Parts: sequence; structure tokens; C-alpha cells
Amino acid sequence: MTISFEGQAVVITGAGGGLGRAYALDIAQRGGMVVVNDLGGSTTGLGDEASASFADRVVDEIREKGGKAVANYDSVASPEGGQAINQAALDNFGRIDAVVANAGNMRHGEFEDLSFEDLNALLSVHVGGSWNVAQAAWPHMKRQGYGRMVFTTSSGGTLGNAHLAAYGAAKGGIMGLMHGLAEAGEPHGIVCNALMPNAMSRMTSNIQPGELGENPWAAKLGQYFDPRYTAGLVSFLASKDCTTHHGIYSALGGRIGRAFIGICHGIADDQPLDAEAIAANWTAINNDAAGYGIPANNTDEFRIVAELRGVKI
Ligand SMILES: NC(=O)c1ccc[n+]([C@@H]2O[C@H](COP(=O)([O-])OP(=O)(O)OC[C@H]3O[C@@H](n4cnc5c(N)ncnc54)[C@H](O)[C@@H]3O)[C@@H](O)[C@H]2O)c1
Repeated sequence: MTISFEGQAVVITGAGGGLGRAYALDIAQRGGMVVVNDLGGSTTGLGDEASASFADRVVDEIREKGGKAVANYDSVASPEGGQAINQAALDNFGRIDAVVANAGNMRHGEFEDLSFEDLNALLSVHVGGSWNVAQAAWPHMKRQGYGRMVFTTSSGGTLGNAHLAAYGAAKGGIMGLMHGLAEAGEPHGIVCNALMPNAMSRMTSNIQPGELGENPWAAKLGQYFDPRYTAGLVSFLASKDCTTHHGIYSALGGRIGRAFIGICHGIADDQPLDAEAIAANWTAINNDAAGYGIPANNTDEFRIVAELRGVKI
């Protein structure tokens, strides 16, 4: 089987370097017409010091290899930016088949040192940026009854890292956005998924070496941290061959695997469980070995609990 983007236009945000560049090269090499968006700012900022050279370099690289690409320098952080990025696909390629929301910035540090401004800077690029590019592409995808959306969350952000509370809040927001759009997109052929990449890039090289750097097993995985170890996953998720939605996929150390939100079967009673009952049953409440459900969506959790409780549905 060959994954092809022949005749398709793909918008990739933050594609002027790191992971986004690897995605753009892979999709272009598979025949996709790519909008290489990048504001070209610092890793921390909203891009006040923007530079077109980021996106231009990747477009040149793609064209040198015979691929089709155009550069776009708008910020994902405003609705107008989201519109302009998608308009670049319509103006140059006449269509939008997939959006890879990859652009990101980083603020990290001790919780008490991170400011509300840091939080908002991350929310506006990660959550706002994903929202803006997705929303601008949505009506076009709905009209054509087809679309693929790939969102970028993060294991560092969402599984817990003491220095990444603000980044985690933003990356967690993206998971919620993806799950909502997966539901909203299904009737229209718009398939939404997310990934948690791990790669050496400008962003990760700026993070202070923490506990990871001190672990020899983590260092050993370093050889698999080239962005190309993640690019194949994104190409698949952005392609017409990916027909499953709601997924979160981790790419780490050369391993690709699905991540999911599971809810332990826990305990139930016909009377309200008071704090003492919770304390007495804490082990059972936390016991995933005794069984858990993976709700496909919001209402599916109701179905799971109804089944567990023997409620006829
Ligand atoms: N590298 C990792 O290990 C890792 C881990 C988890 C998640 N991620 C996520 O992957 C994505 C790519 O990160 P990367 O590691 O390649 O970092 P990177 O800094 O190399 O790439 C991010 C790109 O986004 C661009 N960008 C930033 N703000 C923008 C804006 N407002 N509008 C348009 N472009 C903007 C930057 O100029 C940059 O080129 C990010 O969302 C990041 O949070 C990366």
C-alpha cells in the first residue's frame, strides 16, 4: 500500500523547522501540495521578531526535489491568520484536504515563576492556533465532504512535567478540541486525530536538561529523536487512508502507539457514596486491573456505566 497525497492540498502550520518541516517534506514527496506556514519567531514568543526565511527555506527544499509548496508567514494565533493560511491553499491549489496544526511555542519554568502572560502566550498559539486554522478550513472540508485534521498535543505537556504546567494546560486544551471536532466532523467526512511527538528540535534543545537527561535509558533513545521518526505517523493521519478518528498517538523513541483515556470500572452503589466509603474503596476505585472502559465519546461513558449498573438501554 502506498500513502499518496496526489491532487491534495495540505496546510501545515509551524512547518519552517523541526517536526513541521519533516512533515512537509514527507507529504510533498508523496505528491501533496503543501502550504508551509511559519511565522519564524523565537521559541517563546508570539512571533514579534518574525522572519520569512523559516518557511521559505522549506519551500525551496521541497521545490528543489520537484515538489509543490508555497510559503505563508501568518500567525496562527489570530482568526485572521487562520483564514489567511487556509486562503493560501485555496489561492494556490484550489482546495484544502488536510490541516496539520503543528505550530507551537514554549514557556517553561517553576510554577511560581510562570506568569499569566506566559500561560496566555501558550494558550493563544497552541489552543487558539489550532482552533483558528481548523475553523477556517472547516467550511471548505464540510462542503467537499472530506477532510483530515491532525492536532499536536504532547506527552511532556499532558502526562505531567513539573516545569511544563502552562504548556500542559495548552496541550491538554488541544486534546479536548480534537475530541470535540472528531465528533462534529464525523457526519461530514472530516477525520480528526492528534499526536504526541517527541523529537530533537529548536524547541526541545532550549528546554533545560531535567530528569530525562540524567537517565541513561532516556539518553539511549536519543538516536530515535530525529523528526523523521514522527513524520510517517503524520502522513498517515493526514491521508485518506486514515479513517479512524478520536485517536491520540504517541511517537517516542521510534515507537508509535495509541494513547487513550480509560476510566476504571470502580465502584457503584444505589446510595450516594460518602467520603468514608470512598476512602474504604480507594484501591478498588483506582484498580485498572479489575477493568476499565475507554469511552469512544462523551455519551459512550453513559453507555458503559449503564451496562455496568445493569440499566436496560
Ligand atoms: N519536539 C518535541 O519533542 C515535541 C514534543 C511534544 C510536542 N511538540 C509539539 O510539536 C510541535 C512542533 O514543535 P517542534 O519541536 O518542531 O518545535 P519548533 O520550534 O522547531 O517548531 C515550531 C514552529 O512553530 C512556529 N510558530 C510558533 N508560533 C507560531 C505562530 N504563532 N504562527 C505560526 N508559526 C508559529 C515556530 O516558528 C517554529 O518554526 C509544537 O506544537 C510542539 O509543542 C514537540
